[in-house]
Amino acid sequence: MYITSPESNLTGTSFIEDAENSTPLELVKTADFETRQSSLDDYQKASLQRQSFTAARGQIAWLKCGETFKVLVGWDGNDDLATLGGLPMTLAEGDYHLESSISDLQLIGWGMGSYQFNRYKKATRAPARLVMPSTANATRVINSIRAVALCRDLINTPAQDMAPSHLEAESREMAECFGASINVTVGDALLDAGCGAIHAVGRAAEDAPRLIDLTWGDENAPKITIVGKGVTFDSGGLDIKPGSAMRMMKKDMGGAANAMGLAYLIMAEKLPVRLRLLVPAAENAISGNSFRPGDILHTHKGLTVEIDNTDAEGRLLLCDALSIAAEEKPEAIFDFATLTGSARSAVGAELSAMFCNDDTLADAVYQAGRNADDAVWRMPLHGDYNHMLNSKVADVVNCAPSPYAGAITAALFLERFVEKTPWMHFDINAFNVRNRPGHPEGGEAMALRAVFDYLNGSYA
Ligand code: BES
Ligand code: MN
Ligand code: ZN
Repeated sequence: MYITSPESNLTGTSFIEDAENSTPLELVKTADFETRQSSLDDYQKASLQRQSFTAARGQIAWLKCGETFKVLVGWDGNDDLATLGGLPMTLAEGDYHLESSISDLQLIGWGMGSYQFNRYKKATRAPARLVMPSTANATRVINSIRAVALCRDLINTPAQDMAPSHLEAESREMAECFGASINVTVGDALLDAGCGAIHAVGRAAEDAPRLIDLTWGDENAPKITIVGKGVTFDSGGLDIKPGSAMRMMKKDMGGAANAMGLAYLIMAEKLPVRLRLLVPAAENAISGNSFRPGDILHTHKGLTVEIDNTDAEGRLLLCDALSIAAEEKPEAIFDFATLTGSARSAVGAELSAMFCNDDTLADAVYQAGRNADDAVWRMPLHGDYNHMLNSKVADVVNCAPSPYAGAITAALFLERFVEKTPWMHFDINAFNVRNRPGHPEGGEAMALRAVFDYLNGSYA
């Protein structure tokens, strides 16, 4: 449904190969505005004055140049998504081309800023279209934009149409598209596979829980495994959430959406890695057969987990998937999850909280995030807090009985299932709560491009 085959042409994007009568866009650095202005005639100066144009970031102004017009775009001089990200929905519909030189990242900003979710409501306008500059790595730009759009579409789709079976269907379509192999373990078969935690979280829902396992690439290439929390709706389970907290929980498969978007980008860009994508998918629903507080689950790793709170379900899906991932000792495991409210409290909705058991990997991905304008911020796997996960009747408890350090104790829980394998965990919001250039309100890709750029830099 949402998988776009990565053809080289630009159909369905906000880019075009070429256009007659497209309007030129000129970037004007805020700091250079006075110099630029002094080269204009009196009519042009007056025109910019009437539009209050000062070349501030994101500002636009029309300028008559001889018989035609151009658009001046204010620019703060940074190479980021915001340079062009606000334009597709601010400029009038139509075709534009750039007169100024531009980076691939800035072009990705244009594409990310032109995203719309139109499945249930007709768009009131089309985004403006940009001629793809000949200097760009057009394939990389378009693949990145499509990966982000895939991620956002999956998140924005309500739970009724994005149940575990839909995540499976999207994954199968993606496997088909890239010639990947895929294996899905559904319902009671999870128990035979040892995945008692995934089963427990999802068994009360109409749409059965499942573990999606996709593999792609040369089997001798370095193994990279990506895991995503796929809770298609989080009611909280028997520890039911209040209405206000439940309202946005269609996005609780945002980790899965990011993992799938990243897998898409890796395969579309043909990175020379052996990729494995693991998506444990379940709806945390309420029924007579729901798992309960006090229940003790048997996980894939063999550890028993006492349930303190059925609303701490994400780590239960992840723990089975992570232990499967760690078994084959890949080069690295990356997991993405809308895991805790605590991570949002710490870093807000627009930064990705990152945990990592390998300092070199953490530093490299932090730097990649800065360069990709996809910021991640490292948080500590503070081992001294492990005592909060002690259970009197099982190996570990799923949730610390403490109001403190919720994102850290969740990460410490996960760490027990990967042990020494290099591993990075992202606790993300996966949803923009406000509009900003390149980041429309709604489902969001977070840390996806940061990890892609890191992998591309390390393995390509
Ligand atoms: N999916 C939620 C976490 C969440 C909430 C992410 C809001 C983003 C926005 C998760 O399953 C959850 O319910 N976590 C609880 C854990 C608690 C019961 C230990 C939380 O963070 O409150
Ligand atoms: Mn929950
Ligand atoms: Zn959840």
